[in-house]
Amino acid sequence: MAGEDHRGAIFIDPLAYADQESWHSVARHLRREAPVLRVEAEGYTPFWAVTRYEDVFAVSRHNDRFLNTRNSVLGPDLQFEMLGAMGIEPKTLIHMDGQEHRQHRDVANAWFRPRAVAQRQSDIDRIAEEFVGRFRQMDGRCDFAQDIAVPYTLRVIMSIFGVPEEDEPMMLRLTQGIFGAADPEYLGDLSDPFAMVTKTIAEFEDYFNAMAADRRAHPHDDLATVIANARVGGCPMDRHATLWYFVIVATAGHDTTSFALSGGLEALLRHPDQVEALQADPGLAANATDEMIRWTSPVRQFLRYLAEPATLSGVEIPAGDRLLLSYPSANRDEAVFEDPMTFDIRRPNANRTIAFGGGEHFCLGSTFARREIRTLLPRLLAAVKDVELDGEPEFAQANFVGGVKHLPISATLC
Ligand code: HEM
Repeated sequence: MAGEDHRGAIFIDPLAYADQESWHSVARHLRREAPVLRVEAEGYTPFWAVTRYEDVFAVSRHNDRFLNTRNSVLGPDLQFEMLGAMGIEPKTLIHMDGQEHRQHRDVANAWFRPRAVAQRQSDIDRIAEEFVGRFRQMDGRCDFAQDIAVPYTLRVIMSIFGVPEEDEPMMLRLTQGIFGAADPEYLGDLSDPFAMVTKTIAEFEDYFNAMAADRRAHPHDDLATVIANARVGGCPMDRHATLWYFVIVATAGHDTTSFALSGGLEALLRHPDQVEALQADPGLAANATDEMIRWTSPVRQFLRYLAEPATLSGVEIPAGDRLLLSYPSANRDEAVFEDPMTFDIRRPNANRTIAFGGGEHFCLGSTFARREIRTLLPRLLAAVKDVELDGEPEFAQANFVGGVKHLPISATLC
């Protein structure tokens, strides 16, 4: 870090996110003292860390002035140089702006509208029942994160996608390994990370190309069919964009939601009175879900690039510079959330969570994510007399998508 200011390290160092208390204590200080902090770190193009809700919201809303195109996620410069040298140029919705973005988002938008997602409720119910059954088979003792949250959220997204159950373990391995954004535990052989990324992408490509060819020949009622047969600007969507569309839905769709579920349950179990309240009134599940998502903020950051100079919280930032939008910090902003460091399933404005971003890039899957959590939660609590932590939770070391990766719990079943 340049100069004496080390505070910006919390946005870069994956280990910093594994200690949530200390991370949030630095973020709280930054919101008060340096809400738009210039961060200079070796190996990283400098960026401005934006920590207040109001600023994250304003930047997200004005996508014409704060652009996505270029690297949308923080990483070391070398990583992007190497990927570029290998000819790997991700092109997903989060890498696009303006008309190109709107046209590509339109491809799957209808599938993610609340009414369309509501039609999948019976599938989500069935999958949730299955996982509560699995929880019973384990006698209510398990690592909730790995035994339930990860496979449950994977099964839901893969079922709408159209990936058969027997391919789920492979999908899990591929999605967790991509881009080294995840905890080292999931990254396999790290002796040559770039070889691993190339291999992962090649495997994705083989799998999704075959899937696309199949859905063009035999359309199904699934998302893969929609993507494979998509037209953009009157022509079939090109191969590159099609591949990356598959990749973003597969990757964005499960680890985010599973971290919200496991971290949310951890917070809940630390408040037995709130567990009881939810058991007594399952109608609280929707608000509890929003609070779990606010609390966990599984997506740690996305970047934006200034199309023109801008002033944020009194700080002037030149055109071309980049901003890091810190969702976990914005979600604990005392200017919006009263007593933000308290987990409260009855919080009146929990639905103002900014964990899903905002504006044109607002998370496409937010309705799905919310439904997945609020479907499983009351069922799980209805299956137990009481439930508690059965050891210390462990947090992922990840600076992009992260949260509780191991959550030992123990329950007395009904
Ligand atoms: C709790 C769970 C989730 C969280 C916290 C989350 C968070 C986010 C965030 C912060 C963004 C970027 C928004 C912005 O730049 O303003 C995003 C975009 C996106 N998310 Fe999610 N997400 C979740 C679940 C899902 C699910 C279940 C899916 C898909 C099935 C999904 C698909 C996407 C896609 C495709 C985008 C790109 C949208 C665009 O650029 O237009 N997400 N998400």
